[in-house]
Amino acid sequence: MPHEERILVCKTVEDVHDAITTLAVRGAPAIGIAAAYGMLLGLEDGHSIKDELKVRAAYLSGARPTAVNLSWAVNRILKVLDAAASGDVLDLLEQEAVAIHEEDRVACRRIGEHGVTLINQGMNILTHCNAGSLAVSELGTALAPIYCAKERDLDIHVYVDETRPLLQGARLTMFELMHAGVDCTLLTDNMAAHLMSQGKVDMVLVGADRIAANGDVANKIGTLNLAVLCQHFDIPFYVACPTSTLDPDAASGDDIVIEERDPEEVTRLVGAAIAPKGARVRNPAFDVTPAVLVTGIITEEGINTPGSITS
Ligand code: MRU
Repeated sequence: MPHEERILVCKTVEDVHDAITTLAVRGAPAIGIAAAYGMLLGLEDGHSIKDELKVRAAYLSGARPTAVNLSWAVNRILKVLDAAASGDVLDLLEQEAVAIHEEDRVACRRIGEHGVTLINQGMNILTHCNAGSLAVSELGTALAPIYCAKERDLDIHVYVDETRPLLQGARLTMFELMHAGVDCTLLTDNMAAHLMSQGKVDMVLVGADRIAANGDVANKIGTLNLAVLCQHFDIPFYVACPTSTLDPDAASGDDIVIEERDPEEVTRLVGAAIAPKGARVRNPAFDVTPAVLVTGIITEEGINTPGSITS
């Protein structure tokens, strides 16, 4: 995407693992949903199903470390397995995977309905990465309030950070907002401060990959820059995510593993080398925004301050 739309059919757990690691499916909730289905692909009932699912759970959970939705979804499948009597196990597991998917769709709609209460006529909203339909189900998370505003005929405008290195903003968020008829403008990642200084941004709205118990938010690299800018320019900074992204086992952002990806994602752009051969590179895929910089967290349950979110 955005120039070619192709459906990738996954027939094995390995296909799903590859789709997650190569970002063919990406975004925290979407990788959870894909992993839940991946646990079951080609699975046959039999005495070794428990062992097989444990191996698959470890394999899929290891595909990407930062988004908690991945292990959360896989663990839900394992819990159903533990509770199931023999005989109808495969049906129950499939029902659970479908339920994870359906609950996510409903959560996104609720996030949209809560979030839209923050949006007024004429607002300019800035978003980063892609937290829309291409990352979740149906409405997405950060984009859900925007789609709900559109449904209510609110006249709003969205600035979209391109989101280097992999350009999820330019490729995916611009694609889906334009497709939905939402007024939007693409920015490179270093333009936000300038626009904010001119009073052109009323709110920043982003997704999340994992939220720690104290409200620290892990999200796409570059999110922290925006949160710091929002504090400086006194702009509200909101995070939208389903409760499946909350991780009470992580006390703070220090407990969140940040995925470090292939240096070539930085040294190459759309296939072309853009740095001298041998250039040293860092490529953390996510950063952690401290809770103190977050105005509010929008989940399917409502809008909370970061400190109260996991308590
Ligand atoms: O590396 P990605 O594209 O999976 O990163 C995605 C993000 O950081 C999203 O903002 C986050 O997963 C929320 S998606 C609703």
